[in-house]
Amino acid sequence: MDKKITTIAFATDHAAAEVRGKVKEYLSRLGYEVLDFGYDGDGSCDYPDYAAKAAIAVADGQAQKGVLICGTGIGMSIVANKIKGIIAATVWNEDTARLAVQHNHADILCLGSRTSTLRELCLMIKVFLDTEFEERHNERIAKIKELEK
Ligand code: RB5
Repeated sequence: MDKKITTIAFATDHAAAEVRGKVKEYLSRLGYEVLDFGYDGDGSCDYPDYAAKAAIAVADGQAQKGVLICGTGIGMSIVANKIKGIIAATVWNEDTARLAVQHNHADILCLGSRTSTLRELCLMIKVFLDTEFEERHNERIAKIKELEK
């Protein structure tokens, strides 16, 4: 059984400026506390700065899950996966959002604001947060964790 999710670490880069407020609002409406690690300034920024902060918050246990949005979700996942203990997955539809948890035990969902609509982003987030890991994939996840040593 996965830990109860109460708090979400959230971060975006400038590519997600248009959707970040609405996605944050959506997470709050679902009843989660949102720890917002930026970026909410004007102009462009470097996604590694924000992905790392949010991923560290998940690794430290300040949040149980993370949601990161950049243009494609790819940069965010590359960065988040550098943080020890984190499994981050870029997904592109509801099926991959579900499988990222069921099979890959993803802690962090990485989404693309340039590849998905706001509605699609929200649907993927809901599926990610409502899905539980399937224990039958435990040995594979243990092999991933072993690589971190
Ligand atoms: C920013 O232009 C873009 O490179 C970034 O949002 C992201 O898609 C990187 O993976």
